[in-house]
Amino acid sequence: NDNGLALTPPMGWMAWERFRCDVDCNDDPVNCISEKLFRDMADRLSEDGWKELGYEYVIIDDCWMNRTRDHEGKLQPDANRFPSGIAHLADYVHNRGLKLGIYADMGSFTCMGFPGTPLHRIPLDAKTFADWGVDYLKFDGCNSNALQQFLGYPWMSQALNSTGRPIVYSCSWPVYVGSLPPEVNYTLLGEICHLWRNYYDIQDSWDSVQFIFDWFFNNQDYIQPAAGPGRWNDPDMLIIGNFGLSLDQAILQNKAAIAINQDALGIQGRRLLKEKSQIEVYWRPLVDSASTVVFLSRRSDMPYKYHTSLSKLGYGNGTYQVFDVFSQSQLQPLSSTQPFTVSINPSGVVMWHLTPTNRKAVFHRL
Ligand code: GLA
Repeated sequence: NDNGLALTPPMGWMAWERFRCDVDCNDDPVNCISEKLFRDMADRLSEDGWKELGYEYVIIDDCWMNRTRDHEGKLQPDANRFPSGIAHLADYVHNRGLKLGIYADMGSFTCMGFPGTPLHRIPLDAKTFADWGVDYLKFDGCNSNALQQFLGYPWMSQALNSTGRPIVYSCSWPVYVGSLPPEVNYTLLGEICHLWRNYYDIQDSWDSVQFIFDWFFNNQDYIQPAAGPGRWNDPDMLIIGNFGLSLDQAILQNKAAIAINQDALGIQGRRLLKEKSQIEVYWRPLVDSASTVVFLSRRSDMPYKYHTSLSKLGYGNGTYQVFDVFSQSQLQPLSSTQPFTVSINPSGVVMWHLTPTNRKAVFHRL
């Protein structure tokens, strides 16, 4: 969608991974889906250094709604859990320099059984969200059929645009029609949505993370060219910082990793190599002839010493500055033909940011 929004992948916080559909504010007031939760998260993003790093959207997922629409047919939040209303919450979020996202579903019910947005409700719901001051919509697809999706996803795009309010539009359409062409038209998605959920829901485990990224890279010939400024594949939420993975906050606040993610070229990475040793190599180009290489180990024994050279990875002749993103250290410059060894932890990655010392260096990949 080229209306100027989401020129780099949207960053923020979304409720689903951690808080799911906890609507029990009596027994679990701290974790239930309520305005208090989203106000707290807005405080955290603005006070704990997240906003400065680019985390901008506070996104409400499923289970915020009242079970019925109001007398005018409008969606309304659950009155016990959101007593001040969504417009008020949007003000709270905006006052902290952040943006508010919300969730709806283009079927008869949301995935958790709250009111859906059947076709004839699309213009009204788009207008309601805009009137409330919402900045981002996740439009899910549970309880809808292929024809409704075919009509509804483009229609919502149009309806959001005609509100005049800039609203990032996240479509779950591909998930519900098999994720790949010919059922999924990635060119069309790129025209109507800013991002789209391609594949299954992520869960809080390394197995789930591998399952998702394997699908993305096994299908990279379809998926990778679809991405660019204003149109992103969405492999689902980052789940670190919860219960199932050991990585900590430092990863989410790593400036070099964020800069790579937010690179203005917006070219999605690709897997270059899958070695018998269970080492995989990934690559993406960045602005100003810089690039990123990721070495991933699928092993479960010991740190693995992987031997290669930049020319073997497709780099043109020249010398490159190398910054190790997660150890945050500048390594010795590497000439493309010089063999090197990198040690990769089991189920770990080493991520490098490379810059040619001579800007005329040309990449062979792409
Ligand atoms: C679907 C979506 C999830 C989440 C839930 C909410 O499963 O893919 O991301 O929004 O619905 O019910």
